[in-house]
Amino acid sequence: MLLEARAQARAIPAFTSYTLESTRAVVEAAACLRSPVIVQAGSGSFRGSSREMLAAAVLAAARAADAAVGVHLDHATQLPEVRACIELGYSSVMIDGSRLDFESNVALSSRVVAESHAAGVWVEAELGAIAGDEDVSASTGRGELTAPWRAEEFVERTGVDALAVAIGTVHGIPDRPVVLDLGLLEQIRALVPVPLVIHGASGVDTEQLLAAVALGVAKVNYNAELRRAYIGALRTALIQDSDDVVAVQLAAVAAMAAVARDKLLLLGGGHVDVSSNHHRDQKGPS
Ligand code: CO
Ligand code: CO
Repeated sequence: MLLEARAQARAIPAFTSYTLESTRAVVEAAACLRSPVIVQAGSGSFRGSSREMLAAAVLAAARAADAAVGVHLDHATQLPEVRACIELGYSSVMIDGSRLDFESNVALSSRVVAESHAAGVWVEAELGAIAGDEDVSASTGRGELTAPWRAEEFVERTGVDALAVAIGTVHGIPDRPVVLDLGLLEQIRALVPVPLVIHGASGVDTEQLLAAVALGVAKVNYNAELRRAYIGALRTALIQDSDDVVAVQLAAVAAMAAVARDKLLLLGGGHVDVSSNHHRDQKGPS
């Protein structure tokens, strides 16, 4: 999916899912545009919904979807969690050894690559530190940026299939505009053959993001913007003081699907077949 996207100068958006509603929103937006997408569910999401329940929902949605839907474990730091998700049927995992020293990150990532590849699962790893917390909007300053020569050595030694690079993004929605180091990205791209991944894209301006995609970024992670749409829809529904749970769910799905659709289109997805009548058949938000 990532190699094909990169060859077409597109990127696949990867959305963090926490619930049935966010899962449905992302998968339906992708199906509507007939565009590939990745749904991410990792430790942060499992805290609220449980690994087994959320994974079952996401995997079922992916199987039933009218589009290619990857199911990805985001920011795993422990081997047992990687193994559990491979066992459940995830199509890819991210091992985040960015808090370790270089050699320990190489060792952990190599181990994950060996086990994942044996199961037909592809692996994303991270080098450099992407600042901020994955599940909250508060952001911190810039982390340590990815050194190109280190990235080259890391990918060669670990055999990872995709590499998350730190080029200035932060997790969450930052309070000041994020400036990507596109020169650094270009240097990394010249030395690293695998597709590159950007985390924390919510605060990045469109022009910069598209320039990064043109420079070999094939996966872009979104979390904060979808969460914001989710909570916004819930807030509106609560003000109306209704006890109609389904109406609240549908409002949340519609709000998140609109965000997912925007991102899919922005990153070059959306080969809409005008002769298709799936819109008329669809009951859910589109
Ligand atoms: Co991340
Ligand atoms: Co549609």
